Amino acid sequence: MDINSAEFIISNTDVKKCPQGQFPEYAFIGRSNVGKSSLINMLTGRNKLAMTSSTPGKTILINHFLINKNWYIVDLPGYGYAKRGHKGQDQIRKVIEDYILEREQMTNLFVLIDSRLEPQKIDIEFMEWLGENNIPFSIVFTKADKLKGGKTKNNINNYLRNLKKYWEELPPYFITSSESRMGKNEILDYIYNINTTLNSSII
Ligand code: GTP
Ligand code: MG
Repeated sequence: MDINSAEFIISNTDVKKCPQGQFPEYAFIGRSNVGKSSLINMLTGRNKLAMTSSTPGKTILINHFLINKNWYIVDLPGYGYAKRGHKGQDQIRKVIEDYILEREQMTNLFVLIDSRLEPQKIDIEFMEWLGENNIPFSIVFTKADKLKGGKTKNNINNYLRNLKKYWEELPPYFITSSESRMGKNEILDYIYNINTTLNSSII
């Protein structure tokens, strides 16, 4: 799928104020600094669409981007950023949970995982919570350019082995780099296929 247009529409903390209408949307979530905004820029080919930063905690709102005038990409705040303090983290958690549980247009959630790290409790628990609430999700391993010499692959295989302890069937997963654009076509094709099954007029 080609992305012909990508426009920022609105930022919110309240799911009730998100855009009206029935366009399907695909949201990106994960720990702070995992690379959500960079991935969105890479997928859309627009370097400055979503704001990125080396300082964690940059995205604190629900950000809607309209793609090809008929579906949305949603950039969500990162979870688990300790420096926000308990109160700040609770506020962000509420924004995220309300969005995920209440937003009917949310068609698939992409959960981003740093491909360099061992499985983290916070991510495993988050995915369990998604399962309990029947939220459709896929995993996106990020920053695959950062480890050299097959280490990325080993780490990811290890991660998937670990997940099998909790899941009978693994969710779909993608291996990506916002630097090299690895995984771009795979994710866009995945979205395209879902859009096609939802409504043959959405392409
Ligand atoms: P918050 O909005 O703070 O939750 O962070 P985020 O998940 O949106 O992360 P963001 O895209 O801002 O990226 C965080 C840092 O990681 C930035 O310095 C990016 O340049 C870097 N980064 C993101 N993706 C990649 C990647 O695929 N490869 C490399 N080498 N660096 C990346
Ligand atoms: Mg961000």
